[in-house]
Amino acid sequence: MLVLGIETSCDETSAAIVRNGCHVLSNSIQTQIDLHQVFGGVVPEVASRHHLEMLPSVIQKALDQANVSFQDLSAIAVTNRPGLIGALLVGLTSAKAMAYALDIPLIPVNHLHAHLCSIFIESSGHSTPPSKKVPNFPFLGLLISGGHSIIYKVHSFSRFELLCQTRDDAIGEALDKAGKMLGLPYPGGPEIDRLSKNSKGGRFSFPRPLAKKTIREFSFSGLKTSLLNKIQEAKRSGNPLENPQFITDIAHDFQEATLDHLLEKTRLTIQKTNLNQLVVAGGVAANSRLRTKLQELAKDLKIEVWIPKPIFCTDNGAMIAALGSHLLAQTNPPIKNFDPKHLTLNAFSSNERE
Ligand code: KG4
Ligand code: ZN
Repeated sequence: MLVLGIETSCDETSAAIVRNGCHVLSNSIQTQIDLHQVFGGVVPEVASRHHLEMLPSVIQKALDQANVSFQDLSAIAVTNRPGLIGALLVGLTSAKAMAYALDIPLIPVNHLHAHLCSIFIESSGHSTPPSKKVPNFPFLGLLISGGHSIIYKVHSFSRFELLCQTRDDAIGEALDKAGKMLGLPYPGGPEIDRLSKNSKGGRFSFPRPLAKKTIREFSFSGLKTSLLNKIQEAKRSGNPLENPQFITDIAHDFQEATLDHLLEKTRLTIQKTNLNQLVVAGGVAANSRLRTKLQELAKDLKIEVWIPKPIFCTDNGAMIAALGSHLLAQTNPPIKNFDPKHLTLNAFSSNERE
């Protein structure tokens, strides 16, 4: 089974060809980060226009790299939610048109679920190297990105039970806004990760949000306010943002507090559910300090932690094609939503239970 996956939910235009749900033949990604950098964040209208310009060539590149043609495709999978509405519509409308013209199934894929299922990408399907062990259902899925901070109980490829989410900002959003306050380039997450390695830590003290043990929710906006207050306080005696060591030290301590809060609530959820497998995905899963802390958590709680390769942590078409393939394989004959002749499929329809 050869599936073309299309992803246009935010600021990456991506298309990928995946065989049998796990073997990535190509994964073409065109990032728009440079375009949005000048604004310090993603501008939805700019994102949609750029997807429109780039998608045809990104799809062609994916086909060429995989050495396949449109006629070889078994189905097309496309992100249909959640995301920026205009950006989603570019991918969705293109996918509909192609699936209709080729008379093959169209598979709507939830972007968040695809992030968590990207852990299956590197598994079987390759003859060499030998297949890697993958988690068994049910497992816990911690999704941490620019738009979401969620823990799901993942029962199957189509059943995701929401256990914990953020009250306010997503973790990636908080890191990006912190980066902006510190005058770092967009996105702030990887910059803070890089800078933090050069600080001894402990110069600034940040609060730990929702400290009460019974609360199983995330909250990152208070940490952001605390950072702003500390910068303003330091501004009373000069401009701290001209001092590289100030930026490095405060970035380190902010990241540490943010990750501690994330892991405290994750620990609580693990203990509450008694599940011993945790998959961590989304852009923030690329964070190097988080990876170390997750290993410590795994040892402490005697659980297995799975993190996809960094290229599959950030937005990509391969994860959409991979989950789309599993959904298609589960649904035989294809359900109504999968039939391209039903052109009423809208951006918020869903084929999954939550
Ligand atoms: O999953 P993703 O590519 O897009 C969304 O669906 O949001 O995640 C993007 C987020 C951004 O907030 C970015 O700052 C963050 O992932 N990110 C990181 C790192 N790399 C990307 N955050 C912390 N450390 C990193 N190394
Ligand atoms: Zn994402």
